[in-house]
Amino acid sequence: MKKDNIVRFGIIGCGFRGTAYSDYTLSHPEEAVVTCACDILPGRLEQFGDKYHVPKENRYVDAKTMLEQVKDIDIVIVANLDADHFEMAKMALERGFHCLLEKPMSPDPWECLELVRIAEENNCKLLVCHVLRYTPIFSTLKELVDREEVGKIISIHHAENVSYTHIAHSYVRGNFRKLSPIILAKSCHDLDILNWLTGKKCKKISSFGELTYFKKENAPIGSATRCMECSIEKDCPFSALKQYLTEETGWPTSMISVDTSLEARTKAVREGDYGRCVFHCDNAVVDHQIVNILYEDDITVSFNLNGFNTTETREIRILGTKGDIRANMEKNYITIRHFGSQKETTIRPKVHAGAHSGGDAMLMKDVVEIARSGNWDSARTNASKSVDSHIMAFAAEVSRQEGVIVDMDSFKEEIIKKGRMS
Ligand SMILES: NC(=O)c1ccc[n+]([C@@H]2O[C@H](COP(=O)([O-])OP(=O)(O)OC[C@H]3O[C@@H](n4cnc5c(N)ncnc54)[C@H](O)[C@@H]3O)[C@@H](O)[C@H]2O)c1
Repeated sequence: MKKDNIVRFGIIGCGFRGTAYSDYTLSHPEEAVVTCACDILPGRLEQFGDKYHVPKENRYVDAKTMLEQVKDIDIVIVANLDADHFEMAKMALERGFHCLLEKPMSPDPWECLELVRIAEENNCKLLVCHVLRYTPIFSTLKELVDREEVGKIISIHHAENVSYTHIAHSYVRGNFRKLSPIILAKSCHDLDILNWLTGKKCKKISSFGELTYFKKENAPIGSATRCMECSIEKDCPFSALKQYLTEETGWPTSMISVDTSLEARTKAVREGDYGRCVFHCDNAVVDHQIVNILYEDDITVSFNLNGFNTTETREIRILGTKGDIRANMEKNYITIRHFGSQKETTIRPKVHAGAHSGGDAMLMKDVVEIARSGNWDSARTNASKSVDSHIMAFAAEVSRQEGVIVDMDSFKEEIIKKGRMS
């Protein structure tokens, strides 16, 4: 850290997430600044560089060059796509930079474990963007559980209800349709939250799930491979025209084209990936999956991830020895009841501005405070904690594909023995 105590960030990947974290530097210029940025898309890089006041000479299309040339960095934020997380984080850590890494750490289980080792070897801190830990709802739930408000946890039901438009955008047409299993890409957050809330180690996992709906045999009669050419587009809830060609140009529409004018978006829908019929994409990830988890102390958890919801929401029920807790993230309530009492207490935690109920901004606030104070051990999220949720996601995927119950200790040993996936 320089004497001015301003945290200097280097950004790799100037898309949706790179922007979500960099926004903190605009609202807190006395605490943090983006000193350099890298994106392979020159248009996006320039737009980002201008917005966050990155000097022209510190804008790069190649991350290796940026990390070799720029010295003025305290923390590198790796926010490019999953497949390159390992390479980017490794480069940053080996050059001695602390790193804030987007989840998933890597689509390869061995690489996830290896990153924890590389960070330790280079005496650098590796934090993972598990932003849910910073959301008001889960922070409050953690306090309630830690003070045993409903006694000892016996069981949890948790659901991640992905909206029909979100699954169509990200996991059918878009970036996350085939690179990593959805249970890793989307739900390592949820598995991490379950680990955090229970405070226990996962012993065994089983899972079922399929890609059932978004495939060509379910294409309605009269549909075409692209929405622009489709005769039944007007009746289709997944229509790309309905999703991207409206007045709304924020996320996810901003993802389909750097230029968000109607003309550019119309071209993107006519020609690009996001204009494809949801029944005619090259998507490979499942559209619904359930995971059963056995933790230490016999705690059982059922987790349901699915893409068939009118609205996006996370819902959780925590069942304890003295009562139960029910919470809904998007409706922002927590209801507590105790056995033997008719009383019901409802808490509505204060929601902060920004994505993930303000979780993104709270994570950045924490990271900046930690970097300025040097108190890295107080970080609410770090790679050695986050990696467990990743390994659980890989185990769930093995269970789903092979129809087996996975024992976590043996699974982890096997990953270390086998090394990187082919
Ligand atoms: N923490 C969360 O809640 C959360 C939410 C959504 C996405 N994510 C994760 O964040 C990451 C980024 O997702 P996104 O939605 O911002 O995607 P995005 O497409 O909006 O942004 C990724 C950016 O990285 C750039 N890029 C690709 N390869 C690069 C390279 N080699 N070097 C430099 N830049 C490169 C792309 O051009 C793009 O601008 C993904 O790994 C995703 O899984 C996390």
